[in-house]
Amino acid sequence: MKFLDKLALKYLKARGHYIPHDKNSAGISDFFLYDYKAADGTFDYERYRKIQEDGNKRKINNVWADQQTIDFIADYVKKTNPDASRGLCHGVRRGNEQKWFSERLGIEVIGTDISETAKDFPNTVQWDFHERNPDWVSAFDFVYTNSHDHAYDPQKAIEAWIDQLKSGGAVFLEHTMAHSEMSANEMDPFGVDPRLLPFLIARWSQGRYAVTEVLEPPHTKSNGMRIWIFVIRKTEM
Ligand SMILES: C[S@@+](CC[C@H](N)C(=O)[O-])C[C@H]1O[C@@H](n2cnc3c(N)ncnc32)[C@H](O)[C@@H]1O
Repeated sequence: MKFLDKLALKYLKARGHYIPHDKNSAGISDFFLYDYKAADGTFDYERYRKIQEDGNKRKINNVWADQQTIDFIADYVKKTNPDASRGLCHGVRRGNEQKWFSERLGIEVIGTDISETAKDFPNTVQWDFHERNPDWVSAFDFVYTNSHDHAYDPQKAIEAWIDQLKSGGAVFLEHTMAHSEMSANEMDPFGVDPRLLPFLIARWSQGRYAVTEVLEPPHTKSNGMRIWIFVIRKTEM
């Protein structure tokens, strides 16, 4: 999309107007995935990794998660799964989210980050969240992330996270308009409008997992942005 078109859409969307980009796409053009192509056209994993790691180091003092939202999700976990004993957070940078979950729930919660800076933060493991870790399969009562917009392959990532759930567990995606296609770029390669996320998940899962609830906290991010917590669970098939 041209820069001016993108700007105009962003302006209109922020004021509540919705304009489908392509009348034949059922709105699916509102899903954006940046392509990390090498010169020979193949996927350039090293480039993806380097962009993520450089971004992580540049923003190492920033925290995007907020304690109010983490407490809100933790209270939902307490209510729906009172026996929960272990949680996993992905793409955590400074690891604040696992600390807040752990304090609120009184249980073990660990985090991942692709960057080598993971070693500088408690309970954080350097790990690419797309990858399957045999020690983590069916091992967690919940998986939380606000970094799904950093996935080069969101289907692969979400399937790895679903795989990490114990029976009765849930994946929580904290989604805002900052995770929409308008904000996607080389650094945040995946962007989707919140209204289309359940559609994409239904397409990918072929019935194996599904968005079962969308939680809407009564508060907003500090900049006034609305928050949607997508709850994804394995389905009984
Ligand atoms: C927008 S920041 C969010 C950080 C943190 N969740 C917060 O709320 O402050 C995204 C983080 O995801 C990490 N990241 C990007 N790609 C990743 C991947 N494939 N696996 C694990 N972490 C990743 C980045 O290094 C960065 O620290």
